[in-house]
Amino acid sequence: MLIELPKHAEIFGCVKIHEIQKILKFESETFESPLLRGISRNELDEVLNRTVVIIPVKNEKLHLLDGVLRSIPSGCEVIVVSNSQRGENDIFRMEKDIVHNFHRVTRHPVTIVHQKDPGLGVAFKEANYEEILDNSGFVRDGKAEGMVVGLTLAKNMGRDYVCFVDADNYIPCSVNEYVKLYAAGFILSQTPYSMIRLHWRYKPKVMEDRLYFKKWGRVSEITNKYLNMLVSVHTGFETNIIKTGNAGEHGMTMKLAEIMAHSTGYSVEPYQLVYLLEEFWKGDSKYKEATNSGIEVYQIETLNPHVHEDKGDEHIKEMLLGSLSTIYHSKLANETIRKEIMNELKKNEMIKKEKELKKNRILPPIAEMDMKKFIEVLLNHAETLTTYSQEI
Ligand code: GDP
Ligand code: CO
Repeated sequence: MLIELPKHAEIFGCVKIHEIQKILKFESETFESPLLRGISRNELDEVLNRTVVIIPVKNEKLHLLDGVLRSIPSGCEVIVVSNSQRGENDIFRMEKDIVHNFHRVTRHPVTIVHQKDPGLGVAFKEANYEEILDNSGFVRDGKAEGMVVGLTLAKNMGRDYVCFVDADNYIPCSVNEYVKLYAAGFILSQTPYSMIRLHWRYKPKVMEDRLYFKKWGRVSEITNKYLNMLVSVHTGFETNIIKTGNAGEHGMTMKLAEIMAHSTGYSVEPYQLVYLLEEFWKGDSKYKEATNSGIEVYQIETLNPHVHEDKGDEHIKEMLLGSLSTIYHSKLANETIRKEIMNELKKNEMIKKEKELKKNRILPPIAEMDMKKFIEVLLNHAETLTTYSQEI
């Protein structure tokens, strides 16, 4: 892969955020210059063999999940965390069929679990991680909760990198690209604590009878604007370094994933940046190894456009509300930002009164869990956890 090296980075305490990088060629030999880096297949393979890909899924079209699975690069472990419907019309069972068949034909290792597995509930409780549970002792609904389930399973696979790809992708091979871009980011990274966030240039829409390559997302633009404002008010320098506030697809080194906190609802991705800045720029983090090594955030622009399921206006609204609430309630926000966010929401007729902007619930880093206990209890109580390993 031939990738542009970041021309510019901004440093906030021990957090370094790199400018967007473009892919110049999808395949290349090893090559180094001040402006470009060529990454060979061998280099990528080495990282892919140490990577886990987590796929959160909730009632998506089965075809899409199937395509995503088939597009995962060789060498990666895969974990599907499903919160799909059970009961009479058992979508989870159908997903499991797809996973089973995928493994039978390809022999690619893959693990699947249902988010509402009672075993997960008991295991999180015993491991002192009750924040993820509802009043009945089950893992709550939500993508962030699904991501944390995936992370705990990935942690126990002993791999060094973990990344997320959504299950509602209409261009299967773009998932192959995403995972390789994460690997490229990890290769460039200078610290064991790094995060790779993807940026899309286009989000095609069907207009009349043809595809129109619309520039990527309005919600993203708004989220990015306020995230950048959140840093500008402290540095005194205006910036637009953050371009991936809502990057649903991202990867982290396991070391960073373990100390990452997660915001629930639709604010998980912007909150990751807010958390890093609160904890490692303006805070006094207890995670000293990370502070000493430094944390890097890479933002990489994909070649493929992003085409996923259109979940409608209500979904977009929730995403904007969740994202802006995370910024509004941040320790880093001041009165000016809060006022501007309120005006933004009122302008978009999303909110009338200030107190309507609820604070998102936060899940603490999984480093706080008793992981040994978690796995021991989970293996004894899980009902849906199935691992299809290399050999059948
Ligand atoms: P967007 O693409 O970020 O706008 O949001 P989506 O609704 O497409 O969600 C992203 C991914 O998370 C998709 O693969 C969803 O199926 C999945 N997802 C959504 N809610 C949940 C949930 O409660 N649990 C799990 N495990 N996955 C979820
Ligand atoms: Co989606």
